Amino acid sequence: MTKPIASADPWHYPRPELAKKYLEIFDIGLTSARGLFAKRRMGKSEFLEQDLIPAAQAKGYLTAYLNLWDARTHPTPSLVSALSRAMEPKGLFKLAKRLNTPLKKVKASGKVPGLAEGSLEAELADDPAVAGPLLSELLRGFDKPGKRMLLVLDEAQVLAAPAHTELAHSLRAGLDSRKQNIKVVFAGSSEPTLRRMFGRSTEPFYNWAPLEPFELLGTEFVKAMVSKVNNLSRYPLTDQDALAAFLALHNTPEFFRRYLNRYLAYAELGSPAALLDTQKHVFNGANFHDIWKKLLPADQEVLKLLAQGVTDLHSEPVRMRLGSALGLDKPANKNTPQHALRRLQEENLVAKLDYGNYQLQDDAFAEWLRNLELET
Ligand SMILES: Nc1ncnc2c1ncn2[C@@H]1O[C@H](COP(=O)(O)OP(=O)(O)OP(=O)(O)O)[C@@H](O)[C@H]1O
Ligand SMILES: [Mg+2]
Repeated sequence: MTKPIASADPWHYPRPELAKKYLEIFDIGLTSARGLFAKRRMGKSEFLEQDLIPAAQAKGYLTAYLNLWDARTHPTPSLVSALSRAMEPKGLFKLAKRLNTPLKKVKASGKVPGLAEGSLEAELADDPAVAGPLLSELLRGFDKPGKRMLLVLDEAQVLAAPAHTELAHSLRAGLDSRKQNIKVVFAGSSEPTLRRMFGRSTEPFYNWAPLEPFELLGTEFVKAMVSKVNNLSRYPLTDQDALAAFLALHNTPEFFRRYLNRYLAYAELGSPAALLDTQKHVFNGANFHDIWKKLLPADQEVLKLLAQGVTDLHSEPVRMRLGSALGLDKPANKNTPQHALRRLQEENLVAKLDYGNYQLQDDAFAEWLRNLELET
């Protein structure tokens, strides 16, 4: 039986049914991996960490979660560390001993209880030759019958980067032979990159996981949040106002929570005032300004063009516009948009769609850019 697990965040809207659906599909045994995608800030990570993982634990799975975007500079050590945390504490020490690794801190942890969080990653990052074999060994540790693990790889599109091909291949090989014991959920905000990862025959994870949209939060979520607000506020919030606000905030739970927060602080001003303040904040965020300031002029221009819906960035008229925006009196070189797009993809600001089309990753940033255009 799945025990409901109390969430530490009182504002978390639990999604036990969705978690159950995922685990049941794994139980049936036809698929051992799933890929899910949704735009940014739609609640993927919160669902994975606060609903799916606790539900899996309650069903007896060992669980490991890794956000690959946070780990993008050294994903292999971080993965090793996440997997070793999923094992019993003694496991890693035994493993290091058996492999006769030069990992001093890991060995020392056999004497002192536990290994400080992060110290394994740091040690492995200094010693990349050890991380690969350790990963294979760790996965082998899950071969015992009845030992089940759920591995959640958040921001999985990072694995599609050329720099991480080796990791992707060895991970796939390691997981392939253990489909009975290790179930994997891949999540990410870049649908096109994930599609490429699972849909292209040259990619290591080709055909490995069915990819589907993440079920978004909707009316039920809004109503549940409204009743939490109404338990606290002397000024009742209506479902109707809250639903209108949710829609105006592009159905984005993160922005909706900001709105509720604002409503609770200034309830006497009413819902429209809270919505207006939230829109001002999220679509004109200071953080966008910081990102913007750090970009090269060509990258800024390309972003503005994308926000306006221009797709064919290599065409002559667009390069003419780009050229004049950059103070040239001729079209920008063909390399200019190409290099800008590469940099913007590396920064996770832009995603490549098929047919050479590109799109901004973040709706709120796109809206901010369009407003910027109006102001100047
Ligand atoms: N189930 C939920 N209950 C309450 N609030 C939620 C829920 N899911 C998401 N939120 C709100 O939305 C925010 C963003 O969610 P989350 O970080 O999970 O999005 P994400 O889809 O992983 O985004 P990104 O692609 O940027 O990583 C959370 O910090 C929280 O404020
Ligand atoms: Mg996330």
